[in-house]
Amino acid sequence: MAEHAVVTAQNITKSFGSLEAVKGISFDVHQKECYGFLGPNGAGKTTAIRMIYCYTPLSSGSLNVFGSDVSRDSRKIKSMVGVVPQNNNLDPDLNVIENLLVYSRYFDIPRDVAEHRARQLLQFLSIDERRKEQVELLSGGMQRRLIIARALINEPKLLILDEPTTGLDPQARHLIWQRLRELKTQGVTMILTTHYMEEAQQLCDRVALMDSGRIVEEGRPQELISRYAGKEVFQVRRIDVKPVLSMLDGLDFTHEIAGDTIFIYSDNSPEIGKRLIGMDNVEVLHRPANLEDVFFRLTGKELVD
Ligand SMILES: Nc1ncnc2c1ncn2[C@@H]1O[C@H](COP(=O)(O)OP(=O)(O)OP(=O)(O)O)[C@@H](O)[C@H]1O
Ligand SMILES: [Mg+2]
Repeated sequence: MAEHAVVTAQNITKSFGSLEAVKGISFDVHQKECYGFLGPNGAGKTTAIRMIYCYTPLSSGSLNVFGSDVSRDSRKIKSMVGVVPQNNNLDPDLNVIENLLVYSRYFDIPRDVAEHRARQLLQFLSIDERRKEQVELLSGGMQRRLIIARALINEPKLLILDEPTTGLDPQARHLIWQRLRELKTQGVTMILTTHYMEEAQQLCDRVALMDSGRIVEEGRPQELISRYAGKEVFQVRRIDVKPVLSMLDGLDFTHEIAGDTIFIYSDNSPEIGKRLIGMDNVEVLHRPANLEDVFFRLTGKELVD
C-alpha cells in the first residue's frame, strides 16, 4: 500500500452477467485529497465507487480502504465512510431531522450525540430552518444538502459523493462546493464522480478519466489539460475543414473534428486568432482548454452525452 493511501485498488473488476462494467482499474486515493472519477454515462463510475464503500462486491482484484480489505472488513470500513449516492434516497415518511436521526442508528451513535450533530450539520448546510419539514417539500438542492448532512453524521474520514450537484442550479452548486472545500480543509478525504468539468477543476486534486470500464488517464486537472490540450482552444464552426487548416498552415497546432466543429489546440493563440478572424463564414469561439478537451482528445468522445 502506498504511503498515506486511504484507498488502494489493484486491478479491480466488476461484471454483471456478461457485462464487464469495470474492467480492471488500479488507483490510490491519498489522505486528505479529493479524487474524482469523470466519464460519460455508463463508464463505470458508480460501480467503481460502490465497490469502495462495500455496497457492490468485486468480481476480482484487490481493494483496501483504510488498510482493510473490502471483502473482509466491510463493517469497519462502513463506519469510517460517508456516502452520497447518485439518486436521492431520503425517507419520504420522515421529516428533515428525523432522516438524520434514523440514519445515525446504523452507526450506534447515542441519541443525544446524534441530535447535537444533526443540528450542527443542518446549520453547516444551511437547512436547519427546515428541520421539521417533510423532505418531499424540499427543493432538489436542499435534498442534496440533506443527503450530504446525512453522509456526515458518523463523522467519516472518507466522504464518497456520486454526482453531488447534478441537476442543481448554479447557486445551489456553488454552495455545495464551498461546503465540500471546507470539509477538505478539515482533513476529510473525498472521492467524487461528476459530469461537470468545473466541479472537477474546482474540487479535485486528481482525476481519473473513465471510459467503458477503464481508466484512460489519471492526473492533476491542470497537468492533464496542459499535456493534452494546451492553454487555449479555438472552436471553429465551418462546413469545410480544408480552408481553415490551410489558413493556419505553418503554425504549431493540433486539431480534432466533431460534427461541423473543428477544435484547434495551441499555445500560440494570438497568431491563430488573427488568422481565423480574417476568414469569411466562420464562427469562432476562443476559450481556455478544460478537462472536456482532454477526454475528447484521448477517446474521441464527449464526456457529457
Ligand atoms: N446492478 C447492475 N446490474 C446490471 N448492470 C449494471 C448494474 N449496475 C450498473 N450496471 C451497468 O454497468 C455499466 C456501468 O454503470 P455505472 O452506473 O457504473 O456507470 P456510470 O459511469 O456511473 O454512469 P452514469 O454517468 O450514467 O451514472 C452500465 O452499462 C450499467 O448499465
Ligand atoms: Mg453513475
